[in-house]
Amino acid sequence: MAHKNIVLFGFMGTGKTHVGKEVAHKLDMTFVDMDDLIVGRAGKPIPEIFADDGENHFRALERQVVEDLSQQSGLVIATGGGVIKNPENVGDLGRDGLEICLTAAPEVILGRVEHDTNRPLLNTDDRLVTIQTLLDSRQHLYDSIPNQIDTSDMSVDEVVGKIVAM
Ligand code: S3P
Repeated sequence: MAHKNIVLFGFMGTGKTHVGKEVAHKLDMTFVDMDDLIVGRAGKPIPEIFADDGENHFRALERQVVEDLSQQSGLVIATGGGVIKNPENVGDLGRDGLEICLTAAPEVILGRVEHDTNRPLLNTDDRLVTIQTLLDSRQHLYDSIPNQIDTSDMSVDEVVGKIVAM
């Protein structure tokens, strides 16, 4: 049976958005970035949602977006890195979807997010330690996604090629 959506999971900085856009283009599907949808609904950027309303509110908005997207088909979905924290999210998105988890080494992630100010969870004095700690706490959740691609040493084109071949 054909998959209704392609769902990209993975930690921040693993390439979900870049790769997702290209995969959607190649397969003539529609790309959606969950974080963009959340920002649209909240009417403010992610750091402000976290600062004004707290992470729990962000997760509630994230949950609503998952519920909506799970009803649709023909999408390539770049999830937010923390979406896997709620098992219901993984269950809903995975239903009839091709689930892929993008991974990368902590040092590679650091290099990719170094100048980014849009990720409140990484707004700490030692980003590498924060990345490592968050990754450790979530590793078992990312590991549970059936298809894994380590993007550490791959170009966007290479990752896209691998997904299109799936
Ligand atoms: C988060 C990842 C972010 C965004 C928010 C929280 C996380 O998405 O949803 O800052 O908990 O890992 P990206 O993975 O697209 O950066």
